[in-house]
Amino acid sequence: MRKLPPVGVALQMGELLAALRAGPTAEADLINALQERVPSPHVFLFGSGRAALTALLSAMRRRSERRRVIVPAYTCWSVPAAVVRAGLRVLPVEMAPGLIDYDLERLARLDWSDVLAVISPNLFGLPGDLTRLQGLAEAHEAQLIDDAAQALGASLRGAAVGGFGPAGICSFGRGKNITALGGGAAFVRDDDLAVDVAAVADSFRGEPPPESWAVAGKGAAMTTALSPFFFGLAESLPGVHVGRTVYEPNFPTPAIGNARAALAARVLNRLDQLNQRRGQMAESLDRVLLEGHALALPKPRSGAVPAWLRRPVLVPEPERRDELLAAWQAAGIGASAMYPAAVHRIPGLEGDLDLRGAPFPGAERLAASLIALPLVEGLQREDIDLIDRVARNVLGKRRTDRWV
Ligand SMILES: Cc1ncc(COP(=O)(O)O)c(C=O)c1O
Repeated sequence: MRKLPPVGVALQMGELLAALRAGPTAEADLINALQERVPSPHVFLFGSGRAALTALLSAMRRRSERRRVIVPAYTCWSVPAAVVRAGLRVLPVEMAPGLIDYDLERLARLDWSDVLAVISPNLFGLPGDLTRLQGLAEAHEAQLIDDAAQALGASLRGAAVGGFGPAGICSFGRGKNITALGGGAAFVRDDDLAVDVAAVADSFRGEPPPESWAVAGKGAAMTTALSPFFFGLAESLPGVHVGRTVYEPNFPTPAIGNARAALAARVLNRLDQLNQRRGQMAESLDRVLLEGHALALPKPRSGAVPAWLRRPVLVPEPERRDELLAAWQAAGIGASAMYPAAVHRIPGLEGDLDLRGAPFPGAERLAASLIALPLVEGLQREDIDLIDRVARNVLGKRRTDRWV
């Protein structure tokens, strides 16, 4: 059966060949290309976005006595995993109603004692209120980390996401704006911090990075699997876990290596085109979904150019969410419930939490209400009509304009 993947970038032959033929300057070339997009005097490459985030946090930890890191109470589980890996405590803060972002009023009222850093994860490619976050961080002598793992190419009032505050990251993982089958970068705009990030990055070396042939081969296999005609089959193979969320702070930290760096640099040339295409698909989806469904569609904040990665929709009643998700999946639409729980309920994180911001009903509601729709190359007009028809069947024709 034809089945759309939830997310993913199909790689082109020239890109796979670039990985295969990667030369010794590939890492330096990728650093230069990234610096043109996210102005930062220092860029460090890593084997994953998590490793980049951990390196930044570990470097900040070396330079301060503070040990808490603020994260949104609903976010990608890799974010708290990186915090714990850096030997720090996770301090979740409640979400704003109808947004996938901090409740800034609560953040402003929070007790910031012992807070080292605040992370803006810019989920789904939607920029957070980065200017205000930077102001709050500065007022409390904490550091903003602008995490563009899902938002590379997005901007806020003309400035690139990843480029706010003293440091940021991006990711070249499989489900990201561009992919190199793994990898990430840390953007550093503070010379002293950069010295410590370099030292931490050195301590990460160990496991060798993947060879060129392995990167090109995996890229070819992934590209085949992303085709709607093969995705169902690929997903059912043993050992393939598509979209599974696990909390794992003990992740490996190999170097990115020249093959993945060469691949990332090549695909980076297509970033704007890929983001534009996903943006058009999000617009087409919004047109049908806004027409009389009991769904809420979080909007980008004013002044933001998003880098839509998937289109999150919110179903006000959680039982309806599960029903709609199952119906979309049964129809072959790669819809996903994303992160299974709010941060304070992540199994295994209990001992590393600071719950001074509790309770988090908004984050729990988001975890129970969100469905992310795919914005992948195979998404066609007929799929959008199918998404609409299935939603009509499950939700009826009631209309919800507000998320309350
Ligand atoms: C917001 C956010 N930050 C960090 C990461 C970590 O990136 P990676 O998967 O490359 O480790 C991810 C992805 O998992 C993410 O979504």
